[in-house]
Amino acid sequence: WRVSLIGVPTDIGAGHRGASMGPEALRVAGIGEALRERGADVEDRGNLAGPYNPWLPPSDGYRHLDEVVAWNAAVRDAVAAELDAGRLPIMLGGDHCLAIGSIGAVAAHCRKTDKKLRVLWLDAHADFNTCAITPSGNVHGMPVACLCGYGPAPLVGMGDRTPMLDHECVRQIGIRSVDEGEKRLVHDVGLEIYDMRYIDEVGMRKTMEEALEGVDENTHVHVSFDVDFLDPSIAPGVGTTVKGGPGYREAQLVMEMIADTGRMASLDIVELNPAFDKRNRTAKLAVDLVESLFGKSTLMRQRGA
Ligand code: ARG
Ligand code: MN
Ligand code: MN
Ligand code: MN
Repeated sequence: WRVSLIGVPTDIGAGHRGASMGPEALRVAGIGEALRERGADVEDRGNLAGPYNPWLPPSDGYRHLDEVVAWNAAVRDAVAAELDAGRLPIMLGGDHCLAIGSIGAVAAHCRKTDKKLRVLWLDAHADFNTCAITPSGNVHGMPVACLCGYGPAPLVGMGDRTPMLDHECVRQIGIRSVDEGEKRLVHDVGLEIYDMRYIDEVGMRKTMEEALEGVDENTHVHVSFDVDFLDPSIAPGVGTTVKGGPGYREAQLVMEMIADTGRMASLDIVELNPAFDKRNRTAKLAVDLVESLFGKSTLMRQRGA
């Protein structure tokens, strides 16, 4: 792999301060060294710059919309440049609103290069709110909706076309907190969601087989890893914990099964909030899981076996 680390030090779309410290926490936990150990050629591009968080209440249903747009324009351009250079961009977030820019750029790149796209959205939340239904105004609760064309003009218009993403490309895994209006909207849109009940009923292995069905040599797999996907007992360092998430072993299986496809070509690591963490353990766990995403395994195994 040729990997580029892109720090996105912002909490502009979040409901708690501190995700802005995520990029440095991941570096301190050794993400660069871990990837080099996996054999990757790693370039750390440092941190993107963007507006300071003014910490204002929502206006017309959004908090900090202008600042969210500015951060996402920077993310979009950085990701597009790395993909054009044939590199695998890893976003060191930062709150989840940054996925608008990163996945927007990924989707445009796939259209340009004639690739199919599969977005694996690992999260406790569906992040499919709009200004009309959001309980908070926080844009980190809206990126999937924005990508699919439901959102304010400056965000839905950030890519090469609107919508930037077809909802059919998305598989959400680990979902266990969806707001009332959001529930109706994801249902009406027909978003493919493997919620915790589904995972409990059929197991993580079958869930991932289904989520990865149809991924082939010509597919670009993008992983958007919201660290609150994980159960809070193992990952306390996030602002929006929700009980009942995947534990360590299930999370490892998710990462290993994605690695087995050999098709991951871009990654977001988001919502890590060191202000809520204990001795950086959540960042260390994220790095541990990223090693599995990049093929670390106990034994030599055949791909897909
Ligand atoms: N659904 C809630 C909201 O809209 C929480 C969203 C949390 N999103 C996240 N990326 N952590 O405010
Ligand atoms: Mn490419
Ligand atoms: Mn979340
Ligand atoms: Mn999220």
